[in-house]
Amino acid sequence: MAIKLYQEVVLILEKQGLDWLDPPLKHYLKDWVVSIPGLLATPLKIPTVTDTDHALGEKMNFFANYSNEYSQFRPTYPEDLFDYLAKICPTQDSAWDCGSGNGQAALYLAKHFQNVIATDTSQEQLALAPYLPNIQYVLSPAEETVIPDKSIDLIVIAQALHWFDLDKFYMEVVRVAKPKGFIAGWCYFMPTINEEIDCTLEEIKKIICEYSTNLIQIKYVHDQYKTIPFPFKGVCAPKFSMTNKWSCDQFIGHLKTWPSIRKFNSEFGEATLNNYFEKITLQWDRLEKYHLIQWPLNLLLGQVLSEE
Ligand SMILES: C[S@@+](CC[C@H](N)C(=O)[O-])C[C@H]1O[C@@H](n2cnc3c(N)ncnc32)[C@H](O)[C@@H]1O
Repeated sequence: MAIKLYQEVVLILEKQGLDWLDPPLKHYLKDWVVSIPGLLATPLKIPTVTDTDHALGEKMNFFANYSNEYSQFRPTYPEDLFDYLAKICPTQDSAWDCGSGNGQAALYLAKHFQNVIATDTSQEQLALAPYLPNIQYVLSPAEETVIPDKSIDLIVIAQALHWFDLDKFYMEVVRVAKPKGFIAGWCYFMPTINEEIDCTLEEIKKIICEYSTNLIQIKYVHDQYKTIPFPFKGVCAPKFSMTNKWSCDQFIGHLKTWPSIRKFNSEFGEATLNNYFEKITLQWDRLEKYHLIQWPLNLLLGQVLSEE
């Protein structure tokens, strides 16, 4: 009962309450909720980081260095997406959230599946994930896990597929998926707010696309996953999008977590994009303090057949 209440509180905070809270308060509330004695889930199991993990080098550190901002400024996923994914699976024993970050998808999977295993190569990211009794967080590369063979009903990769070594990862998917199990990978990129701010966002996109898309990972996202390899039997899914109501500070905080923006700033300094952020601030404040922001989700859904 207490656990269920706790799950509900976390979901409400994530889905509704936290949208209108300022980031420091959001963090405080999250800490408060997870610190209720007796309600903590399985402790974080963190095996020794192996050489394989180190080989991921820069990618891994890239997320480790901004896990705090990441946990504060990422939008929450739509609940109906997880309802849909759980319903298409014949059984709901186990789900794997791969590249889990701060457990953004694991939190929702835990409502539908008996067990959720959430893996990531960044200890810093996992350390900020919510604790639930049926989620086990494991520090592990996507390409090589300790997950038993043919044990997973649904594999979810939320905003992370483009960072993986895809050939190796897909071999791991085939190994761990139950026969005819499902794999769902999605990304999101350009949100819509209103005509004026959307135009400024397009200007930002133009700059970052021109200067920082030499990373194939970023290009896959800019292409809305239309070009990323996905060698599974395609399943036609409904369209889903995320909607969050945010202040301007929250939105700019979010923009600053974009890998392409971070890459641009690290190469060219922050001044150029700061001008655009100031422009957005002026455009934002002319209207309401909080705006509804919508991100379409680019979803790839497939079924894992044994010959794949
Ligand atoms: C953009 S974040 C997405 C986090 C979360 N799934 C979400 O929906 O917001 C990408 C995550 O993938 C992780 N990652 C990158 N390469 C990885 C790999 N090879 N194996 C496992 N995780 C990886 C990063 O550490 C990071 O936490």
